[in-house]
Parts: sequence; C-alpha cells; structure tokens
Amino acid sequence: MSKTLKRILLGLAAVLVIIQFFRIDKTNPPIDSGQEFMAVTAPPADVAQLIHDACYDCHSHETEYPWYTNVAPLSWWIADHVKEGRKHLNFSVWGTYEQKKKAHKAEECAEEINKKEMPLTSFLPAHPEARLTDEQRTRLSDWFMALSKGKDITERVREGDPGTTPAMNEAGKESDEATEHEHEEEE
Ligand code: HEC
Repeated sequence: MSKTLKRILLGLAAVLVIIQFFRIDKTNPPIDSGQEFMAVTAPPADVAQLIHDACYDCHSHETEYPWYTNVAPLSWWIADHVKEGRKHLNFSVWGTYEQKKKAHKAEECAEEINKKEMPLTSFLPAHPEARLTDEQRTRLSDWFMALSKGKDITERVREGDPGTTPAMNEAGKESDEATEHEHEEEE
C-alpha cells in the first residue's frame, strides 16, 4: 500500500469515527390518542396491522429505531425520511387534519400503495413485515379509497349514523363543503 493511500484510508476512518458523535434525535413527540388515526378511523384489524407495519415508522410519532439507526451517516438519512414522512402525512395527528385534507391524504395513500411508491423500497430489506403482497396492496388501497370517500367516523356522523354522539355531530357539520368532492363517485 502506498503511503498516500494509507493516509487517505486513515483519514476516512477518522471521519467515520468523528461523525458517530453527531447523533440523531430519536424522541417520539407525544401522541394525543383522540387524534390518532386508528382511533379516528377504526380500521379492521388486518388493515390496521398492515398500516402499522408498513407506514408508521415514517408517518407517525411511533417510530421504532433499530440498532443501525445509530450508525452515521445511515442514521442521518433515516432521520430525514422520518422528518419528511411526518411532514407529508402524520397518522399521529390525523384528527387535527381538516376533512378535505383527510380525504386527500387517504386518496394519496391508496395511490402510493397502488403504484408501489410506498412504503419506500429502501425500507424493505430491514422490514420484511412491510413487504406488501399484491393482495395486501389491493386490500389497503381499497380501504383507503373508501376512507377518502368519507367512510370515517366524522363522515358517518354527518350522514346521521345513529351510533354516534351529538358532540361529534358539530364537527361533522362544519366540514360540509370540504367533503363535497368525496361524493363524486357515489351513486
Ligand atoms: C421509510 C420511510 C417511509 C415509509 C415506511 C413509508 N413512507 Fe410514505 N413517505 C415517506 C417520505 C420520506 C415521503 C415524502 C417524500 C416522498 O414523497 O417520497 C413520503 C410520502 C408519502 C405520501 C405523499 C404525501 C404527499 O403529501 O405527497 C403518502 C400518501 C405516503 N407517503 C403514504 C405512505 C403509506 C400509506 C405508507 C405505508 C404503506 C408509507 N407511506 C410508508 C417515507 C415513508
């Protein structure tokens, strides 16, 4: 090995050691259980499980950080996915989204799953439970599509579902115009 190559390798090793001191923030922000996606939309158990396994690490405040998330620069890249993922769609604050936004996000979920854009492929090698079969993709996207057309709790209230409380009715009324386009495909 030439002297120069040796120096370069030593330098690289030193950099790899030094960057390990720049740790990512792994604290999950608190969750208001009343606003949480599963509480608001009450999906069937199989759907809930799939969404949890395939989406929650990047799109919620329930991110799990395996050992390799300690290794920089990989950790920085992962932290960025979580930050960006939450910014675009955060299941932990679902209840705070306006009705229109809920419908839009649910529709996007159906599309992203259908087009195999989500979950991100880089997520899959370390997460076998997130590798969705075609059948699972159909199940999820159908469910999200139904949700986008207003089959969540707020909308059921609006439609006068007797299984809901008067307090929730108020929230339903406010979102009248926002939900207009959700009815397009209903006959
Ligand atoms: C490894 C992290 C990761 C996982 C797992 C993941 N996503 Fe994402 N998702 C992202 C990131 C990052 C973005 C924003 C950048 C982009 O669109 O690629 C995003 C964007 C999205 C968007 C677009 C939102 C918008 O405003 O355009 C939707 C919808 C979405 N994800 C749904 C899902 C669903 C549904 C799942 C589970 C089936 C999932 N994602 C799993 C990281 C992830």
